[in-house]
Amino acid sequence: MTDKYTQLVSHGAGKTLARKLGLPQPVELRRYQPGAPLITGPILVSGDSAGSDDIATTLLGWGLDVRRNALPKEKLGAIILVLDAVQRPEDLGKPVLKAAASLRDLAPNARVVTMSRTSQSAPSPASAAARQGIDGLLRSLAKELRAGATANGILLDDDLATTSPSALGALRFFLSGRSAYVDGQFLTVSSTSGELPADSDKPLAGKVAVVTGAARGIGAAIARTLHRDGAKVVLVDIPAAGDHLAAVANEVMGTALQLDISRDDAGHRIIDHAVERHGRLDIVVHNAGITRDKLLANMDEGRWESVIAVNIAAQLRINEALLASEHFRTSPRIVSVASTSGIAGNRGQTNYGASKGGVIGMVRSTAGLLEPYGGTINAVAPGFIETEMTAKMPLAIREAARRLNSLKQGGQPQDVAEAIAFLASDAAGGITGGVLRVCGQQLVGA
Ligand code: NAI
Repeated sequence: MTDKYTQLVSHGAGKTLARKLGLPQPVELRRYQPGAPLITGPILVSGDSAGSDDIATTLLGWGLDVRRNALPKEKLGAIILVLDAVQRPEDLGKPVLKAAASLRDLAPNARVVTMSRTSQSAPSPASAAARQGIDGLLRSLAKELRAGATANGILLDDDLATTSPSALGALRFFLSGRSAYVDGQFLTVSSTSGELPADSDKPLAGKVAVVTGAARGIGAAIARTLHRDGAKVVLVDIPAAGDHLAAVANEVMGTALQLDISRDDAGHRIIDHAVERHGRLDIVVHNAGITRDKLLANMDEGRWESVIAVNIAAQLRINEALLASEHFRTSPRIVSVASTSGIAGNRGQTNYGASKGGVIGMVRSTAGLLEPYGGTINAVAPGFIETEMTAKMPLAIREAARRLNSLKQGGQPQDVAEAIAFLASDAAGGITGGVLRVCGQQLVGA
């Protein structure tokens, strides 16, 4: 599914004209389909550490076509640049420039993935500089890649092997079509928790998941994706959206719960419904959200309070009930939908930005509370996503917002849903308290 402009410049005369005029040339992104190969084409594993050898061996075990040195003129599906052992900024040049020699050979929709260590845990200023340098390198490289190719990074805490379960889980996510609209981003792995699924097409088999705001838009896509991945889904939305909610619930063979999440008893209603109807509760996705945009100078109390109430206060209250419940103690997962407006800010959205920035703070602080149960909580921050909400934007603003990212197109609701499904899976058990942007590397703001 692509927008009309992308269709126009992808073929024939439109493609030639766009190239001649130097217009943006988005390509159709490689998105995940069950049963499709993880990635097509050879993978170059670059780097000379023991950690890079381990990655190459693991990928061979997955049946992938692995190279330690690129062959001339061979189209590559991916480059994995393993930099886990760099000590000083001077250590970066050799491995990075060696991998750079293969960048022109990347196939369309290829992947570049770095694996390195978190700078917070660096043992010296030089080590911190080298590690943080990879951040700037990766984000710059992502802006240079073309034809749907992306660059993302995996950050490991100091004592973790490159082959720890969630490092491999994150690597599979970044290589696959599940990460189509994730670009220039990092996932941090902070523990050895996590487990790769027995069936990579059904990573949520046996799980019961709740999705709020599931009657339409991104929430409906999340419900469909969690169902596709094997979960039983409880779909929550306000009573006024009851017909749509029932239709999506039927489609995904889940159950509908008509509920305003800002009610005081929302957490208990959600737990009771999941346990009574499905016997357990493993995953909660806080997706329901509203906008009431106004410049702050014109903001009224109603607009401010309603956005805070739905977008963050309700999530905090529901989480309190979840944390107190004995039914949410077996590797539970919470994934919360934030927004790039809560990170970079957006004109007319001070209330929304406060609520979505709040989501990111809430996630960071709640991670430690879930740890005793092997649980995780993360946020996903979408950029411009093609939904009913963004379809209502004035044409010129919409078209600008759509193109101002490294992939030159808006994301699909499915792209947000894929990131959520990954963070909800056992494979992401070592990833917690963070935020993953699904924004095609939005160029405006932070
Ligand atoms: P949408 O407006 O299409 O859907 C939101 C759903 O939440 C609706 O079905 C609505 O009835 C439900 N909802 C609202 N208040 C509720 C309440 N009190 N209790 C229960 N359900 C309630 O929105 P969309 O575009 O699908 O967005 C979903 C999430 O993604 C929201 O949190 C939004 O802030 C966020 N987001 C969306 C972006 C986009 O480009 N569409 C960009 C960044 C973030």
